[in-house]
Amino acid sequence: MADKPVRGLADVVAASTALSDVDGAAGRLYYRGYDIHDLAGRTSFEETVHLLVRGSLPTRAELDALTAELAEARTIGASAQAVLPYVTRSGTPMEALRTLVSALSVDDPDASDSGPEANRRKAIRLVAQMPLLVATYHAARTGGTLPDPVDDLGIAGNFLLQITGRRPDARTTEMFDECLVLHADHTMNASTFTARVVAATLSDMHSAITAAMGALRGPLHGGANEAVIKTLQSIEGGVDGVEPFVRKTLDSHGKLMGFGHRVYKTEDPRATHLRRMSEELAGITGDPSYYQMSRRMEEVVHDTKGLYPNVDFFAASVYYYLGIPIDLFTPVFAVSRMSGWTAHVIEQHLDNRLIRPDSEYIGERDQKWVPIEER
Ligand code: CMC
Repeated sequence: MADKPVRGLADVVAASTALSDVDGAAGRLYYRGYDIHDLAGRTSFEETVHLLVRGSLPTRAELDALTAELAEARTIGASAQAVLPYVTRSGTPMEALRTLVSALSVDDPDASDSGPEANRRKAIRLVAQMPLLVATYHAARTGGTLPDPVDDLGIAGNFLLQITGRRPDARTTEMFDECLVLHADHTMNASTFTARVVAATLSDMHSAITAAMGALRGPLHGGANEAVIKTLQSIEGGVDGVEPFVRKTLDSHGKLMGFGHRVYKTEDPRATHLRRMSEELAGITGDPSYYQMSRRMEEVVHDTKGLYPNVDFFAASVYYYLGIPIDLFTPVFAVSRMSGWTAHVIEQHLDNRLIRPDSEYIGERDQKWVPIEER
């Protein structure tokens, strides 16, 4: 008979990884040993991709080579293009993108090869394709024209260009690039764990990523950033309405989106950077309301419940200020996390064992079978 399960697998160590590490008590996050506070704002998303997928921060020559590969891989195959008109008809962007990511495998020359080299090639392709997929989906559903990417912008700048239709200025690009760096990897979060479970059956990378997309979508995970901005929009009375809203939500045992974390028991280090960006963007846009409401909310939630904001909380106002449509907030998370997911699939395949935990049986026992006529 199995032991009692650990609810939600809290504190269960499910995998070994050299990709990222979280010190929840100290509020620290590391990518391959580099403190996120050293990387954020100083390292580009492309460098972060190199770090996670290729194992080291790149030299200038390595970065140039990776940038060229990413630009080369920035195309969407005929199958995903063919599916596009169907998935834009209804549903949410995350539903559509889950299907589109799955369709990418049909045209991927390495689709069924899960060897290390093929996996590395697929990882770079998926990282390059994901922002284009989101932008292509957005253009298709709005009937807009997709601007061509430009060579002097990286993944962050080209994404903003293709989503907003305007070339972002240098500071805006830097900030969004930093957002992508901050979301790139985060140990055994639900979507990464999902990807590793699928990969551990020796299934392929696209299957693992499609499953991860499904896990990311939920409001307890990546879906929280969209939920945060909707919460802020729903609060009447601006900053003054925040405290009554928080108290009412907590009194009715509701969840405050963007707060709390399974691992961090103090400030999420990513929130530190996103708070700063939200403040800066509030100043740049001349629209401080969501930043001010967010600050008030973190104060009230901390005082009443002792909870800290997580990565999704200030990401919401940052994305809003950057002009990203609200229902694309979670897809933006996927644009970044693709780097971590694919690196985890590579790592899982390099040292694989089927992930198959046990369960505690809580149903009826010793049931007596009777023929259907007698039931
Ligand atoms: N609002 C209100 N109460 C909360 C919240 C919250 N956001 N988070 C935790 N609590 C309370 C919870 O009700 C419980 O209280 P009590 O002991 O009085 O019953 C206690 O804190 C422990 O919470 P839990 O739900 O058992 O914690 P967990 O580790 O299972 O869940 C979590 C972690 C992130 C799912 C949860 O904090 C939550 O639902 N947060 C809101 C959704 C969210 O922001 N998700 C994003 C997570 S971080 C980035 C990402 O993965 O995308």
